[in-house]
Amino acid sequence: MPEADNEGKLYFENIPQEGKLFFLKGSNELDWGMKNRLARIFNPNDGRTVMLAIDHGYFQGPTSGLERVDVSIMPLVPDADVLMCTRGILRAVVPPAMTIPIVMRASGGPSILKELSDEQIAMDMEDCIRLGVCATAIQVFIGGEFESRSVVNMTRLVDAGLRYGIPTMAVTAVGKDLERNAKYFRLATRICAELGAHYVKTYFVEEGFETVTAACPVPIVIAGGKKRPELDALKMAYDAIDQGAAGVDMGRNIFQSDCPTGMMKAINAIVHGNEKPEKAFELYQTIKNEKK
Ligand code: 5RP
Repeated sequence: MPEADNEGKLYFENIPQEGKLFFLKGSNELDWGMKNRLARIFNPNDGRTVMLAIDHGYFQGPTSGLERVDVSIMPLVPDADVLMCTRGILRAVVPPAMTIPIVMRASGGPSILKELSDEQIAMDMEDCIRLGVCATAIQVFIGGEFESRSVVNMTRLVDAGLRYGIPTMAVTAVGKDLERNAKYFRLATRICAELGAHYVKTYFVEEGFETVTAACPVPIVIAGGKKRPELDALKMAYDAIDQGAAGVDMGRNIFQSDCPTGMMKAINAIVHGNEKPEKAFELYQTIKNEKK
């Protein structure tokens, strides 16, 4: 007999092979590649993520704070778990040796001058694979003028991603005329999850946010929304996590802060360190004062 299979004690017959459940809500039945990418987005130790969102230029051009991504944003990247950006910024500005997981903005079309819900899928899955992304992101406009098309766009991206093991993050967009309450976000997030999104980005609401996370069978991360005072933004992040969010995908409240590094670290302390907002604010202020 060849010697490859040796008799001995290395079969550990008495130790059953473990079949662990995957740590992320609603993701247990996904394939290995999907799970592996999701495990690079969400920290397997706590199931949470701090995503830094800098994709705003895809519809509003050089957004305040993002005028020079190379100068202003790259120093923040080491404190983020994930960078959410467009392929243009990724190829032009982000050093390939920066091994941070990328969530790729894959929808677009209208600018702020037009009807925003008129989006299309704006990227091939082939290019996402070429760029080694961990997930794609697409806007879904529930209640918007082009609601159906945006939902179908999402399902097409989900189908394309499933072929190659790339998860899809649906972003529940809020229009000028759309409501922003728990009932609306329950509807929007649940539709995204029912139709295949692997996780959903939505907005925090003061009343009933825990019903939004409870009714959504996949993880929810929150957007930061418009810039607000730092302590308020930290309170929002804390409340969202406390009420079941699996993290943040935050942009303006970080990069438009007067100390983006301080906000990045403070948000991290809340999401991964369970720090109270007041303590996280102290951390932000300390870093801000050190930088003066
Ligand atoms: C744009 C987006 C942004 O990534 C999102 O709004 C997060 O950024 P912010 O915290 O600034 O709201 O999806 O539609």
